[in-house]
Amino acid sequence: MRKILIGSYILVMFIVIFAISNGELIDGKKSKAVAAGEKLYLQYCLACHGETGKGEGKRAGTAINNQHFLSSVSDEDLYNYVKFGRKDTDMHAYGTSLLDEDIHKLVVFIRHWQTEKISFEAPNVIAGDPDQGRGKYNLYCLSCHGEAGEGKIKMGTALANPQYLKYTSDRQIWITTAYGREETRMGPSLKGLEGARQLKKQDISDIVSYIRSLEHK
Ligand code: HEC
Ligand code: HEC
Repeated sequence: MRKILIGSYILVMFIVIFAISNGELIDGKKSKAVAAGEKLYLQYCLACHGETGKGEGKRAGTAINNQHFLSSVSDEDLYNYVKFGRKDTDMHAYGTSLLDEDIHKLVVFIRHWQTEKISFEAPNVIAGDPDQGRGKYNLYCLSCHGEAGEGKIKMGTALANPQYLKYTSDRQIWITTAYGREETRMGPSLKGLEGARQLKKQDISDIVSYIRSLEHK
């Protein structure tokens, strides 16, 4: 009986040790992938997006570390944003200078800033009136995002940018407009949330339809 007890005790110890060392292995692997991405990030992205990804670099960059942003984009979206860049802005198309596997490493690194997964309530189909939307855009958004979404350096991004619109869905534009990006100048717009703007859901859909209408202009 005693032998069996000692035997099972040793067995349990083995299982515990195995579980711990295995966990370390997985963690070790993860931090290796993050470290590989970090190395590239420090080399190529730091000057604009800053050390913590808050857009605090010396040059114009956006915040890519905030939870609202990270919860609203997939890894594939991040990959496309980095690979294809944003024409006529400071964000280059890194697909021409970096290997695909390097861009994947950068995505892993950006993703490591995510500490929570927020699910946003938003309409599945955005049905708005672009003409109505133009008036509302000019009133609420133009001061930062510029005439017809052309963007203003250090004020607001270029919303009419062809690569932005190609790799971003209406629903994602709706979510960012409604809920904003915490700790940036992009405050929420949805009525009931603490923001400078108190827009109704339909106002937001109208504005998104207007932004989408700028795609091929
Ligand atoms: C006070 C300035 C300001 C106003 C007003 C403003 N924005 Fe923004 N917006 C920003 C900034 C700054 C960002 C980039 C945030 C970041 O660093 O991630 C942004 C980001 C966005 C994005 C994400 C774009 C991207 O490149 O991922 C969308 C969509 C957006 N704003 C829509 C709107 C709409 C629609 C309005 C009007 C209802 C509006 N914004 C009003 C400053 C503003
Ligand atoms: C010279 C400055 C600069 C450098 C260097 C730079 N970026 Fe950007 N990046 C920007 C600007 C500016 C934008 C927003 C462009 C716009 O839409 O107006 C942006 C946008 C982005 C976005 C989309 C964010 C959003 O809100 O939709 C991602 C992701 C991103 N950059 C990642 C990277 C990565 C990764 C690197 C390094 C490989 C990098 N950037 C290098 C300036 C820069």
